[in-house]
Amino acid sequence: MTAQIISGTEIAKQIREELKQEITELKEKHNLIPGLATVLVGEDPASQVYVGQKEKASLALSIYSERHDLSADTSEEELLSLIDRLNKDPKIHGILVQLPLPKHINETRVLYAIDPKKDVDGFHPVNVGKLMIGEPDYLPCTPHGIQQLLIRSGVKIEGSEVVVVGRSNIVGKPIANILLQKKEGANATVTVCHTGTRDISFHTKRADILIVAAGKPKAITADMVKEGVVVIDVGVNRIGKTAEGKAILAGDVDFEAVKEKAKAITPVPGGVGPITIIMLMLNTVKAAKLSAGLA
Ligand code: GUN
Repeated sequence: MTAQIISGTEIAKQIREELKQEITELKEKHNLIPGLATVLVGEDPASQVYVGQKEKASLALSIYSERHDLSADTSEEELLSLIDRLNKDPKIHGILVQLPLPKHINETRVLYAIDPKKDVDGFHPVNVGKLMIGEPDYLPCTPHGIQQLLIRSGVKIEGSEVVVVGRSNIVGKPIANILLQKKEGANATVTVCHTGTRDISFHTKRADILIVAAGKPKAITADMVKEGVVVIDVGVNRIGKTAEGKAILAGDVDFEAVKEKAKAITPVPGGVGPITIIMLMLNTVKAAKLSAGLA
């Protein structure tokens, strides 16, 4: 079997078109322009690329975009004071603080400081709790994007065995939570594997849908999956540089070998990355609608 390649780029394009229409309507009918503030502390090259992509996506959709680049030695108090200002700014509906933050800043304190109504990442404990009880305002972008990739590729989630590799707060835990909800596009049986799992292969071989966010290239090899599996690779590993100095990316899955056994698989790049960014735009539009009592 050679796998169907699930294109995050194509599916993101579909969602972008849907959002474009919604944004035009918000402007014309309600004079409402969604606004997103991104905050980057320090000069981590990968984070700079991610924030740049988010800013570009906002501009392409005529979302008002404000970018705050702070130096690596910014104090926690300075960052908290910026968040306080953005919390009070009516032009700003969504606030995104790019993670990871420099070590001298307490990430939890910063995430707690964002107004939950403006928390378009879905990382504030109020939003994490709302997801847990099945009443989310905002779904975190990467896991929401993964669910959309599966639904829009026609993958049956309901009743399937989903195995997640990785238990981060950004991907592993929330995707497990989303797919176990008793809702359409979910209602799966979910297993989460992590560094404490005794025999990862035992679980991955049982998966109908395998979601990998391990942060390690080739963490999943062909002998670890069953014939006909659907694989979502969340890994973004920089494994080298081109002659022009551009990063060469690889996922967490041995793509070439696993695609021979899989029914469908996401590539890296062009899989989960583009869909994550468009889900941030979707959350920003939702934040604007919530602020105006339209959602
Ligand atoms: N760093 C890696 N992924 C993310 C994300 O989804 N949101 C934020 N804010 N930072 C990240």
